[in-house]
Amino acid sequence: MYRTHTCGELRISDAGKKVTLAGWVQKARKLGGMTFIDLRDRYGITQLVVDAAAPAELVETATSLGREYVIQVVGTVLERQSKNAKMATGDIEIGIETIKILNKANTPPFTIEEESDGGEDLRAKYRYLDLRRPPLQRALALRHRLAQEIRSYLDQQGFMEIETPYLIKSTPEGARDFVVPSRMNPGQFYALPQSPQTFKQLLMVSGYDRYFQIVRCFRDEDLRADRQPEFTQIDCEMSFVDQEDVLGTFEGMMRQMFKNAVNVEIANPIPRMSWYDAMDFYGSDKPDIRFGMKIHEVSELVKGCGFSVFDGSEYIGAIAVDGCAEYTRKQIDELTEWVKRPQVGAKGLVYIKLNADGSIKSSIDKFYSAEQLKAVAEACEAKTGDLLLLLCGPKRKTQTQLGVLRIEMGNRLGYRDPKVFAPLWVVDFPLFEWDDETNRFYAMHHPFTAPKPEHLDWYYSDKKEDLERVCANAYDFVLNGTELGGGSIRIHEAAMQERMFEILGISKEDAEYKFGFIINAFKFGAPPHGGLAFGFDRVCALFGGQETIRDYIAFPKNNQGRDVMIDSPSEIDQLQLDELQLDIRKSE
Ligand code: AMO
Repeated sequence: MYRTHTCGELRISDAGKKVTLAGWVQKARKLGGMTFIDLRDRYGITQLVVDAAAPAELVETATSLGREYVIQVVGTVLERQSKNAKMATGDIEIGIETIKILNKANTPPFTIEEESDGGEDLRAKYRYLDLRRPPLQRALALRHRLAQEIRSYLDQQGFMEIETPYLIKSTPEGARDFVVPSRMNPGQFYALPQSPQTFKQLLMVSGYDRYFQIVRCFRDEDLRADRQPEFTQIDCEMSFVDQEDVLGTFEGMMRQMFKNAVNVEIANPIPRMSWYDAMDFYGSDKPDIRFGMKIHEVSELVKGCGFSVFDGSEYIGAIAVDGCAEYTRKQIDELTEWVKRPQVGAKGLVYIKLNADGSIKSSIDKFYSAEQLKAVAEACEAKTGDLLLLLCGPKRKTQTQLGVLRIEMGNRLGYRDPKVFAPLWVVDFPLFEWDDETNRFYAMHHPFTAPKPEHLDWYYSDKKEDLERVCANAYDFVLNGTELGGGSIRIHEAAMQERMFEILGISKEDAEYKFGFIINAFKFGAPPHGGLAFGFDRVCALFGGQETIRDYIAFPKNNQGRDVMIDSPSEIDQLQLDELQLDIRKSE
């Protein structure tokens, strides 16, 4: 046996026991003739001590140990003279009798501690060393715990875990596909799945009425803190269900995950908000409801008073920022520049200060009386001491900008505590989104989402304004301003699916070529069905109180989509290219 105990296990009650430990040398130091060694594994750190009076050979081995050497030691558990209350094993140390060096190690390029001195790129290159650090070990342990909770819950609910292929034909989810050339079918390509969407629907046709899979998905899109090119979904689908069944089932799953993995009780029931309210009051389809500061439309109150910027705007909206009336000129100027950055895109910022002495000061005093400004303040539920911030322009665009500003002010005021969890269902999404540039409709969720039954007349209408009104039984699970998951009740009739492709401007031939298999399957007795998928990496990160998902993935990619450890993507041999009958076009 290599070890009798782990490095996180021994306590004062074990004093006197003879033990064998194995692990990595965190550090070794000499102190008054004694040698102290911190031995580490993923369970913790145990202090080893080699007495000054020990045989010379043992003392020599102990002092020769470098950082990250892998060793095996035999010794006796002793009560420590100076205890360390910060360590779980801090009451004891091991009096060492033998040390065996199992493997030497080069000096690591950065410190393997809670906080490392290594920069991000260096740690990415040596990811296997970074993974030895406690924060990453905690992150992966949480991921494992959550995966177990999910499997156990869904199993109890009668779900079957079924794998679906990775080499498929493209499934449209709005991103680009990663493609894989086929050697046996020269000139042809597989696509890696953006999600198992069509397969899980086919499984419903096959009668597997409760399916789930913790599954890798691939999307070639621009990367951000919460986006990786390959990521994991908790993908689920159910037959003979309506929206309530789906939401109820996954509310239960989330509740159990929060309770069992991080001991948090979440709201019961989880609140719901329509997509329209989310946009109108939070300027986002994923509102952070940990704080108020809602958006209010004030167009009626401020238009037609001679201020041409407002008079010429479709929409004027405002947020009341708690206790910020004391913002200085400089701070307001800085905020104005902030909203003008391309990431926000506002043309300018109007403010109204509700000063503590009851007076009102604004950047539009010339055009509005104090009474008029008070009415605006009232409409925004503002109180004395608040700072009102107003933006104007096209309705949805301005609401989105106000939403971004709201989040920024929430951050500045410390309202976004990662230890507070405010889940929310966003429901009643529009089925379609019109795009002026390409002059066509896009599916807001994906083209398999069903219209609400009461909107079927509009769905089959040819009028643009009717189609714009069609809502879907689609829902997103939002946590603290992040979209954790989404899904819908699906179309299960061939004719309705064909109509969808028609509205999306996909020709009959194209639909047949791309989706013939699913349209056909629907002709062989497809049950009513629906489901959803959670982004598992995002779930893990948010449960761990982080926004960046990278630390919750063992081997992630960087922002350029590269794995710098294995140096991928990379070029391939001419031989491989020849086999695939591919030529690389050399750029000039
Ligand atoms: P959707 O595209 O909304 O739905 O994806 C579901 C969830 O997956 C997560 N996610 C990502 N996580 C990390 N990196 C990415 N690049 C990334 N892209 C998406 C998000 C998102 O909410 N087939 C449908 C689901 C369904 O209708 O059942 C789908 O994939 O948390």
